[in-house]
Amino acid sequence: MQAQAWSDVDSCSEDRSASTNRQKNRVSCPSSALEAIGLCVVLAKPEDLFTKFPTMSEAIQVNVEWCSKSSEYKDDGTNILLDANENAYGPGLALSPDGKLVNGSASSTAVANGTADSNTEVDLLGLNRYPDPHQHELKAGLCALRNTHTHTTKDITPDNLFVGVGSDEAIDALIRCFCVPGKDKMLTCPPTYGMYGVSAQVNDVAVVHVPLDAANDFALQPALINERLTADPAIKLVYICSPGNPTATLVAKHAVQQVLEHPTWNGIVVLDEAYIDFAAPDASLAEWVADWPNLVVMQTLSKAFGLAGIRLGAAFAAPNVAQLLNNVKAPYNVASPTAQLARQALAPKHLAVMRANREKIVRQRERLVAELPRVPGVGRFRGGTDSNFVLVEMLDAPQGGKPDNGVAVKVYEALAETKGVVVRFRGKELGCEGCLRITVGTEAEVDRFLEEIRVVLADIFRGKGQTGVNGTSTEAQKRETEVVT
Ligand SMILES: Cc1ncc(COP(=O)(O)O)c(C=O)c1O
Repeated sequence: MQAQAWSDVDSCSEDRSASTNRQKNRVSCPSSALEAIGLCVVLAKPEDLFTKFPTMSEAIQVNVEWCSKSSEYKDDGTNILLDANENAYGPGLALSPDGKLVNGSASSTAVANGTADSNTEVDLLGLNRYPDPHQHELKAGLCALRNTHTHTTKDITPDNLFVGVGSDEAIDALIRCFCVPGKDKMLTCPPTYGMYGVSAQVNDVAVVHVPLDAANDFALQPALINERLTADPAIKLVYICSPGNPTATLVAKHAVQQVLEHPTWNGIVVLDEAYIDFAAPDASLAEWVADWPNLVVMQTLSKAFGLAGIRLGAAFAAPNVAQLLNNVKAPYNVASPTAQLARQALAPKHLAVMRANREKIVRQRERLVAELPRVPGVGRFRGGTDSNFVLVEMLDAPQGGKPDNGVAVKVYEALAETKGVVVRFRGKELGCEGCLRITVGTEAEVDRFLEEIRVVLADIFRGKGQTGVNGTSTEAQKRETEVVT
């Protein structure tokens, strides 16, 4: 049996762990933490790691746990994957009907002046050479996109950029640059993206939590954050996710500014804008790094750009901070096909495809917001609607019930195992009792999701195949502990 390490670590607990009727061959694989430190091995059981590599048990720090209990989930193409916040409408690239890139352009000058329209495609003949370690042209394209002059009159330049293997690389690189293992700390605001905690653990950095305000659409609590920063100078990084995952709430600019303006604290505020292109136009604060030397803004091509498969993330920062990040990275971290596709994605005609896909996603998001509450047993939306997913409560009764994790787990399981629809259980996150996180799909996917969740909830309330609404089935209990860290 083979388990291929799953690199989509939407969080430590966010692997596609639900098996479907077509995918029962669940196997153990290395934890997200191990994947994060680059150990990608083919194993049947975690214990095999130590048999296969006898010295490894000593090499791995004891605090790097098997944190995700992840199981491999392979899609056979028939399932509806609404669990990893990918772009349901595909890559933001102008493609021919057979999926080939048409009239792409890798020319930076053309990208910069908006005339990119040559017949260049991905240069496979150059693959015998290592890629460019600096990626200046790609960085120039990213700057051109984010120099909107909405938040500053200054321009950012390639000197303000780090590019890496997804924004997950930037999360890790920042910790390695700014935190001394076993001594320094970082601050996160739960509920939030799990990879901050995974990277902290891998780097032996303690995490201090200042929760979002669950009673107030998961707003940031800058006064509380500042209090903690004053009290604990060992905190070197503050990770703020905007729009949040799983909250889908854009963080108010003034709240970020309040932390940036902390009078004595001497650390870095990291703003994770993975989902920023689903929020209001010009919401990105990337260009603000020209004004704030203590701000880093992370972005990715994995979400609105629909390019999760190429693994390209970026961190915008003051030049001295960007330089530090570039100093700690592996020299050839961005593969040349990735860089070429990323550069082309930033050219106007491909950006037009990305924006058209974004509009389609926004329309389907609006449909979910309008239609989900009509399903008996569906409760409130939690958080906001600034992303390509929604967070919604499952209730313990068809009408007037209260949020219930038992029901949410059952819905999650039944959707995956009997309907081939995979969503994400989020009920164990702070302030998210009874919640599922649902990635916005295509129109057809949303049709099917709405139909299936109605059936599944009705079955649960009839007690069909379950131990009852308030009792959780053994299988459900098992899964509940599996999917939640
Ligand atoms: C908030 C957030 N940040 C960063 C990432 C990582 O994205 P990437 O694919 O660029 O590593 C994700 C992925 O789901 C995310 O949800």
